[in-house]
Amino acid sequence: TIDDCKLIKLDRFYDTRGSLTPIYNQVHIPFDIARTYYLYDVPGGMNRGGHAHKQLQQLIVCVMGAFDVILDDGTRKKTVRLERAYYGLYVPRMIWRELIHFSSGAICLVLASLPYDEHEYVRNYETFLKRKQAQS
Ligand code: TYD
Repeated sequence: TIDDCKLIKLDRFYDTRGSLTPIYNQVHIPFDIARTYYLYDVPGGMNRGGHAHKQLQQLIVCVMGAFDVILDDGTRKKTVRLERAYYGLYVPRMIWRELIHFSSGAICLVLASLPYDEHEYVRNYETFLKRKQAQS
């Protein structure tokens, strides 16, 4: 459920030279990273996401700027604002997510538990709801 989506506070090594945040498999996140990607150059007013994953887990980090993530487990929704590079939003499997309200220059880093596989996506919201109902 949506309660399994957790905002994880990461380490931040901060000194006069700036900040650094490391992330380890199975330490800061409950999975092994198979892939990373990042979203950038998102034009004002554009949304990303709008899908769920059948098995994939991920950590979403806003490494620059800010944006909102709308999480939806088919029953409840919540919105999490990401605006710090030392917080990551953990999203388990089968959560519908949308990324909205990107600030200009925002960068969204995603750490994912699986390689890219289009068959692993649920991109239709009605299909998502049906799959959730079938599970419960
Ligand atoms: P898409 O899933 O639509 O992005 P978002 O997560 O914002 O909904 O992906 C956009 C395009 O990028 C699509 O053609 C698939 C491709 N893509 C890859 O090739 N590899 C990846 O790891 C990802 C996430 C997307």
